[in-house]
Amino acid sequence: MEVVVLDDAGEDAGQMGRDVRAGLSATPKDLSPWPKYFYDAEGSRLFEEITSQPEYYQTGAELSILEGCSAEIVARAGCGELVELGSGSASKTRALIDAMFDANGTEGPPPRYVPLDVSESALRESAERLVTEYPGLEVLGFIGDFDLSLGRLLGRSSDRDRLVAFLGGTIGNFTPEKRRRFLGALGDGLREGDRALIGLDLVKDERTLTAAYNDAAGVTARFNKNMIRVINHRLGAGLDPDLFSHRAVYNAEQNRIEMWLDSEGEQTVGAPDLEARFERGEGVRTEISTKFTPDSAARAFDEAGLELLDLYTDDHDLFALALGKPA
Ligand code: SAH
Ligand code: TRP
Repeated sequence: MEVVVLDDAGEDAGQMGRDVRAGLSATPKDLSPWPKYFYDAEGSRLFEEITSQPEYYQTGAELSILEGCSAEIVARAGCGELVELGSGSASKTRALIDAMFDANGTEGPPPRYVPLDVSESALRESAERLVTEYPGLEVLGFIGDFDLSLGRLLGRSSDRDRLVAFLGGTIGNFTPEKRRRFLGALGDGLREGDRALIGLDLVKDERTLTAAYNDAAGVTARFNKNMIRVINHRLGAGLDPDLFSHRAVYNAEQNRIEMWLDSEGEQTVGAPDLEARFERGEGVRTEISTKFTPDSAARAFDEAGLELLDLYTDDHDLFALALGKPA
């Protein structure tokens, strides 16, 4: 197992200061373009806890697709290397790795797994667990930011055809413009034999959607407020996380969940170079999570110059995995 640091993985405090300043001077305040600032070690831990909340259907639905379809996906992709973007705990990834071992039989080199994540703790822990669980699996991990380093990651030379997986519906957390850029860069970076597998949360009834982001145990609320803690910790912003309340609502026009933090009182950001004020009741949008239909998924692939080969869904049409190739 090898772990390589690819870029500063969002650790550049100067860049973070510029991002947060831009976000807090927008009207309304908007930090949602930078979801990576949720994921320090505590953020990664809280995200893992979200995935096991009863209201959060996505992880179970995506896992059921992977358990049912990984053998077919791996056979169609003919891949010897699995690249995973934003791999996190890589808990669902095991279905794909199992299928790669099965497809391999006793011949040929064992599969290679190449995860990338900004969260160093999540990446190291999952890489270590996988090499112990899968004797022979070659693991080459990268700590980095897929906004900065996708081209470099995909530009690595490889002796195998690759399957590039982007699970967890993370693509839904991108703004439409960033999604276009990201999928375009993915299409550019794929070689002829490579395939992409992208997890998309589907449009469904509003009650199911809002419940998923307002779990009764309050884990998503803690995850949301963790963004404030990260900003305090790294930029000395001096905001009071407990003065914010969590709000997650469905924006039906844009087919997306929006998470907000509303300040229950006035407060001022006290860091040098970062002046901002929250009025009482003023909110900051912290994340969007776009929901797709089969049509909007096809459009997103099309715009990016990717050919959509298939859309795998679970039995309840909650979630989809889109398999694509460079056009
Ligand atoms: N794929 C996992 C985790 C999804 S949560 C799953 O399906 O459960 C989103 C993951 O993307 C987190 O692990 C987070 O650390 C990572 N991430 C968020 N922004 C990132 C960025 N800009 N570059 C690389 N990883 C990022
Ligand atoms: N991408 C997934 C989603 O939008 C996972 C996720 C990211 C998430 N941030 C989250 C889930 C915050 C709940 C709360 O659902």
